[in-house]
Amino acid sequence: MSVVRSVVTGVGGYLPDEVVTNSDLAKFVDTSDEWIVERTGIRTRHRAAPDQAVSDLAAPAAERALRAAGRTAADVDLIIVATTTPDLTFPAVATIVQRKIGAPVGIAFDVQAVCSGFVYALSVADGFVARGRSRCCLVIGAETMTRLMDWEDRGTCVLFGDGAGAVVLEPGEGAGNTEDRGLLGFALRADGGKQDLLYVDGGVSTDGRIGHLRMQGNQVFRHAVVNISEAVEAAAADAGVPVASVDWFVPHQANQRILDGVAKRLGIDPAKVISTVAEHANTSAASIPLAMDQGIRDGRIKPGQLLLLEAMGGGLTWGACVVRL
Ligand code: ACO
Repeated sequence: MSVVRSVVTGVGGYLPDEVVTNSDLAKFVDTSDEWIVERTGIRTRHRAAPDQAVSDLAAPAAERALRAAGRTAADVDLIIVATTTPDLTFPAVATIVQRKIGAPVGIAFDVQAVCSGFVYALSVADGFVARGRSRCCLVIGAETMTRLMDWEDRGTCVLFGDGAGAVVLEPGEGAGNTEDRGLLGFALRADGGKQDLLYVDGGVSTDGRIGHLRMQGNQVFRHAVVNISEAVEAAAADAGVPVASVDWFVPHQANQRILDGVAKRLGIDPAKVISTVAEHANTSAASIPLAMDQGIRDGRIKPGQLLLLEAMGGGLTWGACVVRL
């Protein structure tokens, strides 16, 4: 049976120039390189310049993804940006990116699911591309998480960084089996009852502030491994593939210990996990496409391979996606 799949035809990433080391942070907050590396695996993170908005990270990532796909901005008819740190309260970052890359009038909007945003956005995009409503779609994860930090809270400010990653999705005909290229399966979850574990303590309709990220780290950690593992198994079942057949796990990069915990629980060979957490830290919705970009550029991830993407973030939200490149 012939089916239309949403096929990833290009991937791109962008990291701002400034690199902040753990030792840089230890100059003004009571922490150490040793503590951060041991508890998280993070060594450095990138930070956007004061005059860089999130759209300034998203636009070059989008342009690189388009180049990789052999497309130009003129081809783009749908832009979805997953972000929790928009330039402005409105318009959507997606419309600002549309203007900055010079894409024509089309559809553009943002998705807000914090660190799970990229997986959620892929699922939303699939609804357009696989149903013939988009011929060339950009799905972008872009964040300036450093703008949400309380720089006196050592339990959070050492964990996050800035960056953007993007994929181009185009319709492709498949045979309706697991050998098809494209997005093959999803599992998306949310539990609003766990808001207190991870949230920002300000907002437009409450106190009018941007606010700071607040987190009960050890509680988030406790839920992460169990929740992510369940979603991974559900997405694999949705796609009809065994978890063991996946070539590469491309997780949201929150903490090396979470990545290791999920791999252990699911019996995944750690050598199959793409990890960028040491260099990028947690870039929220940007971390999965940035890790995909890294794995493709360094030659590990190859066309035709099966990837499993997964994430968990504020909400709590979490989810996973199976994609064949
Ligand atoms: N440097 C030194 N000491 C620190 C630091 C720091 N940066 N941060 C916390 N500590 C101290 C605490 O104050 C505490 O000290 P105390 O015992 O004297 O009170 C001690 O370290 C232990 O604190 P815990 O919070 O229990 O430390 P834990 O081992 O849980 O590690 C961490 C904290 C790294 C945040 C961990 O809980 C974690 O990674 N949780 C998951 C968080 C996460 O990944 N969130 C993002 C996922 S969702 C998303 O991406 C938005």
